[in-house]
Amino acid sequence: MKKYGKRWFSALMALLFALIVLVPAASAATPEMADPARSLNFDGGWKFHLGDADGAQAMDYADGAWRDVTLPHDYSIEQDFTPTAQGESGYLPGGIGWYRKTFTAPVDYAGKHITLDFDGAYMNTEVYVNGTKVGTNPYGYNPFSFDITDLVRPGQKNVVAVKTNNRIPSSRWYSGSGIFRDVWLTVTNPLRIAKNGVQITTPDLAKGSGRTDVRTTVENGTSKDQTIELRQTVKNGAQKKKFRSSRYTVPAGKTRTFAMSFDMKNPKLWSPETPEVYMMTTELLVDGRPVDTVSNDYGYKWIKIDNNNGFFLNGKPLKLKGVCLHHDQGALGAVANRAAIERQIQMMKKMGCNSIRTSHNPQSAEFIDLCNKYGILVLDEMYDGWHANKNVNIHDFSESFYKEVPASDSRLVDSYTGETYAEFSLKQTMKRDRNAPAVFEWDLGNEVEGAAAGIAYDRDAKKLIQWTKEVDPTRPVTSADSMLKYYDKIEVPDHTNIANMQTAAGGMVGGNYVHGNVYDIIHKRHPDWNLVASEDASAVNSRGVYKRSKDQLPDHQLTSYDESTVSWGKMAAESWYDCITRDYISGEYVWTGFDYIGEPTPWNDVVSVPYRGWPAPKNSYFGIVDTAGFPKDSYYFYMSQWNTDVTTLHILPQWNENVVEKDADGNVKVVVYSSAPSVELFFTPKNGGKKVSLGRKTFTKKRTAAGYTYQIYEGPGKSDKDHENLYLSWNVPYQDGTLTAVAYDADGHVIRKTEGQSTVSTTGPAAELRADIYGDRKTISADGKDLAYIEVRITDKDGLAVPDACNKITVSVDGTAVRLVGVDNGNAYDMQSYRTNNRKAFNGRFLAIVQSTGQKGKAKITVKADGLKSDTVSIHTK
Ligand code: GAL
Repeated sequence: MKKYGKRWFSALMALLFALIVLVPAASAATPEMADPARSLNFDGGWKFHLGDADGAQAMDYADGAWRDVTLPHDYSIEQDFTPTAQGESGYLPGGIGWYRKTFTAPVDYAGKHITLDFDGAYMNTEVYVNGTKVGTNPYGYNPFSFDITDLVRPGQKNVVAVKTNNRIPSSRWYSGSGIFRDVWLTVTNPLRIAKNGVQITTPDLAKGSGRTDVRTTVENGTSKDQTIELRQTVKNGAQKKKFRSSRYTVPAGKTRTFAMSFDMKNPKLWSPETPEVYMMTTELLVDGRPVDTVSNDYGYKWIKIDNNNGFFLNGKPLKLKGVCLHHDQGALGAVANRAAIERQIQMMKKMGCNSIRTSHNPQSAEFIDLCNKYGILVLDEMYDGWHANKNVNIHDFSESFYKEVPASDSRLVDSYTGETYAEFSLKQTMKRDRNAPAVFEWDLGNEVEGAAAGIAYDRDAKKLIQWTKEVDPTRPVTSADSMLKYYDKIEVPDHTNIANMQTAAGGMVGGNYVHGNVYDIIHKRHPDWNLVASEDASAVNSRGVYKRSKDQLPDHQLTSYDESTVSWGKMAAESWYDCITRDYISGEYVWTGFDYIGEPTPWNDVVSVPYRGWPAPKNSYFGIVDTAGFPKDSYYFYMSQWNTDVTTLHILPQWNENVVEKDADGNVKVVVYSSAPSVELFFTPKNGGKKVSLGRKTFTKKRTAAGYTYQIYEGPGKSDKDHENLYLSWNVPYQDGTLTAVAYDADGHVIRKTEGQSTVSTTGPAAELRADIYGDRKTISADGKDLAYIEVRITDKDGLAVPDACNKITVSVDGTAVRLVGVDNGNAYDMQSYRTNNRKAFNGRFLAIVQSTGQKGKAKITVKADGLKSDTVSIHTK
């Protein structure tokens, strides 16, 4: 009786534990991983130690003094900026980190098949379960899983220990360190659907057929042959389809893949305007009853890339209006937080962006999921280099690229002994992403030759292309090349070979920073290449800086006018002009959508002692939006060219005498970014004078042979550089007052609804703080992960944003529903930790990020600054 009682008690405790601790997260990730029927979110309840810890893999290691953390977690962002770290990595240290999670496995795990699934951890990750090493994953950006079935102790305590080691110099940008993406525990029957085991393709869409092919891989981990059926249910809104396979046999201990096909009548096509995502639920049936279930998102879209007319989606020409994005989230570091990624994607979408290149590594599952839902075409990039490191980054993935999975790592799911980590990481990423409607092409790497040009890179390319075709023969393959920009002078055989191989594989040939005239030469010489500007611009701007001196300003800031770029780059307008005027170029990918930590070019530094002293800037100036998520003026340039749903009307500079730059005659260059057919600029002097027109300027509409339109100013005073006529400029004598831009349609009627800042006024001194919640998200989820971004402006007493205000702002949180997780201002030259409750504003703006704690309720967030009126916002969590 006693024995029975004990067993009953421990079973109950295990069940309770399962209910309390192993509750699947409410937030959706890629459906296969988030399927509550089989995968438990494993992000909660970890202990963390920064630095090495001897013996920390042991089950009984005393971790009581370690810190509690919830994943995703980044231990670089928690450290201080230091001159002893590397500029490229944003002067934040890496190092070793240890994580431990102790959990009681429910008793009914007995006889189950169990895997531990990581969406990515940086890097050289070693995983231990109950003291036994289960394996290693060297690359920091690919998903990986371990089969831990034989190690988990049902009904008892279990310990997972994870060691990550980020040996800087590693990535050429801020990578972050640690388990920075989600972790899941997948528990299935031994007879199960394999990891990433459902592959959905739609091969005949171009012919007008909704034929859908499904290949389902079933693993029989039992010692008996099994007779199974598969039932697949497809859903998209009201559209629903169910079908069932015939009976199959899966022999004991074997894996089998079954192919099925069905016809989806009139599928709703996926596109940036109509991001129609279908969900397929696959049930594995034995005797008619489900023994395993997974869900996969997929979609119906087809692409064509034409060497003369560029990119086509679903039969229609579509210019790729793309940005490159690194994965960090500014003040939050490298954590893959869904709310943070969503804000970035929303902002890019609003700008008119329709595609993102995942520079230069796979992004998280959350990122891909959000691109599916927002209609962003993904160029899924794998690596920054292949077998050789870049610059001095000796500890980047090149260290492990051709290393092989050892026999001891047989628990690494879906790998084989002797498989190179290059093949493993590529294939795991592809298998995770291959059903995603957003993903349209595999991108094998960025400027892969690095500093070591000429070492038979075409050999690597051949293998990589072959591996992509093994996993997904339906999508083309590309890479981003750094030598094409010199093809007017020199052709490099290795690079031409790679371009030819990609062309044969149906892919685009990506050129980084190629000038229009050089594109024309390449197009003539290699007419079969499908050219795309895989990386362009590298304009370098600070937000809200209107001095125009070409030299770097002494305060480590760069002008916001489109007049500043790195030596190998192009202005924003120049890059777009080269692309929109050439139908054979499929589109452009601007470097970059957001500023990222690291690579603070032109103050970049690959070694640890900053070459121009300390402090030194810590983040990039390349972003169209700064690290805090505040748009620079160039945001509205892109919006004026890319977003055809709105009328952009945006003036720069701000109109305060101390922020503008006057020429010798006292004139200030005023620029208007607009998509309106014509724009008139007015000036009203501050002290009661009359409003006067400074002239109306009308664009000329152009149409390319492929049907793309753009507009250019050809009137009096036009620039002799064509690309500078994509926007309008006036020279205005400086006087305090108000500049107003008015947009007119083709019939001369005023367009009232516009996007951007159509008025700028001379302001009074800073008087107030005004706080708004990004996206008006006053209610967020109480899931312990969701975020609210509190965006603060410093204004004068009339509510006008003061363009150069830099008051120190302090944040306080009243209530336990949220906690402050970071502050930022977008200033690259600010070395204060993001993890404080205060910071100086930068050019009038400040950001505080709060995260739900897991408690339902209300919190008040107050921002204060000496001498200014404070402001408070309320957030509810539910
Ligand atoms: C490119 C490189 C990017 C970034 C950029 C800065 O050549 O691919 O990763 O470094 O330069 O301009």
